Amino acid sequence: MISSFASKTLFICFIISTMTCFVALATDNNPLQDFCVADANSPVLVNGLVCKDPKVVTENDFFTSGLNIAGDTSKNLVGSNVTTVNVARIPGLNTLGISLVRIDFAPWGINAPHTHPRATEILTVIKGTLRVGFVTSNTENRHITKVLNEGDVFVFPEGLIHYQQNIGHDNAVVIAALSSQNPGVITIANAVFGANPDISADILAKAFQLNKNTVKQLQARF
Ligand SMILES: *[C@@H]1O[C@H](CO)[C@@H](O)[C@H](O)[C@H]1NC(C)=O
Repeated sequence: MISSFASKTLFICFIISTMTCFVALATDNNPLQDFCVADANSPVLVNGLVCKDPKVVTENDFFTSGLNIAGDTSKNLVGSNVTTVNVARIPGLNTLGISLVRIDFAPWGINAPHTHPRATEILTVIKGTLRVGFVTSNTENRHITKVLNEGDVFVFPEGLIHYQQNIGHDNAVVIAALSSQNPGVITIANAVFGANPDISADILAKAFQLNKNTVKQLQARF
């Protein structure tokens, strides 16, 4: 017969293991084999991408080049350009839970407030000086911010809204690694004011405590 102490212990273990399970599912799944190179030609839709036959996998499935080339920061109003190296560029990243970006900044350029629904980000400054920050969730909305110089490293926790700004007089370059093969990006201004079709101006006016005309002006810009 199980004592009440033992049954309580079992119950607590069950709760903990369930919670651990949720934590593990919050990020990319663990691989179940050495690799699962994405098969770009497969019509099958799965969570992630279907594996290519390992026999036809080559070194080039794990390779890309050109990250020495700066993104063009003059093509948009924010003055930055993100070059993405995710599973779409390196098929071998499929199931490995990792990817990276190069971000170029014009002087005073920003990477606008955004969030990655599936990844934590760790950023290294290669060149320049940046102001970076993130905001914690609604219990506090605490703004954690810091100025970074060459060689400095900063972490943006999974899901939290964050940004970077080049505060130097020259171009800046960073490399950031992300804990997903496909982190996703939600740029806050674009998602809220540029939703297609529009989120009703009534809703946004109340949410942002603005008048409807201001909301419509913002919507016209995104
Ligand atoms: C980023 O730079 C590339 C070329 O370097 C350019 O083709 C692309 O339009 C730029 N993207 C943005 C969003 O400015």
